[in-house]
Amino acid sequence: MPKLRKPKIPDAVVPPPLRKPAKPGSAGTPKGQAPSDLKEAPERKSAGDKMLEVGKEAPIDALGWVDQRLAASGFLTGMLFRKVPKGTNWFYTLGSATLFAFIVQATTGVFLAMFYTPSATQAYSSIAHINNEVPLGQLVHGMHKWGSSVMVILIFLHMGRTFFFGAYKYPRELNWVIGVVLLILTMTMAFTGYLLPFDQRSFWASIVGININGTGPVVGPYLSDFLRAGPELGATTLSRFYAIHMLLVPGAIIALIGAHMYLVVKLGTTAPPWVKAQRPKVAAPVAPLEAGANGNGRVNGNRANGSPVDGEETSA
Ligand code: HEM
Repeated sequence: MPKLRKPKIPDAVVPPPLRKPAKPGSAGTPKGQAPSDLKEAPERKSAGDKMLEVGKEAPIDALGWVDQRLAASGFLTGMLFRKVPKGTNWFYTLGSATLFAFIVQATTGVFLAMFYTPSATQAYSSIAHINNEVPLGQLVHGMHKWGSSVMVILIFLHMGRTFFFGAYKYPRELNWVIGVVLLILTMTMAFTGYLLPFDQRSFWASIVGININGTGPVVGPYLSDFLRAGPELGATTLSRFYAIHMLLVPGAIIALIGAHMYLVVKLGTTAPPWVKAQRPKVAAPVAPLEAGANGNGRVNGNRANGSPVDGEETSA
């Protein structure tokens, strides 16, 4: 893979200690003239102006302090300033949209967890409390509830994009496999979350879902037993679904999204199938100094018939 040129980082975002010193005589003055700060006595700044200047530089200084210790700017520059293939279009935003939906789910989920009680007797009333009494509770609950459907729709669209663009082929097979696991985990989140309000609809829908799992070959019955956490759907089922929904699956999703993103950055994205690959511009071999010495009429690599690529020469 060709090495990407590092983009120039604007001076304004580089902390002062890391900035390149200006070349002598180049500090905004035309050649041959002394810099203005040498001609006139420096202007005295008031304490307020100095404070303002320090205040303005403070965030950049703080970032510089962190960066000197983490050396993260090289990694971030490489990650954020990537070249993308020709023909990249709106369909390529579906992965980021799925990521955004996940972040919304994680954020709203944290706020819901502050008020939700995972108990068979209190779950329903705690959701009613969130919707009716907690400030913005109905909004946050609504975002989480509808957001789950949005994420499921987006993940399928993203999978469709990668499938129809052939992005599952070499060398991205592993990223496809990670994607499949992410799809299963996302569906698990949607399924386990559905039971949490513990109302009539979620209760009966979960029984249907658990029974469907039970029909799977070999592992099906074990899976449905594991999910039900007892002979009947009840309080232990709710606790189990809550632990899976809150701890197990989000942790796995975060780790896998990290691996997925690493591979996207490492391998780059696929060009759309209708964009033809360009022939690499092969430098023609350097010909001997004496023109015509090798008998093919080349002088310094230029062929007599003008063909630029090896193997393209015709017999004519
Ligand atoms: C939580 C779920 C997921 C998130 C957050 C996510 C995120 C992303 C992002 C941001 C990209 C790069 C931009 C793009 O191509 O859209 C990407 C690429 C990719 N994703 Fe996902 N993805 C998820 C699920 C999936 C699933 C379910 C599959 C397939 C089964 C999949 C397969 C791929 C592949 C093969 C690429 C490389 C695309 C290419 O090279 O053009 N991803 N993903």
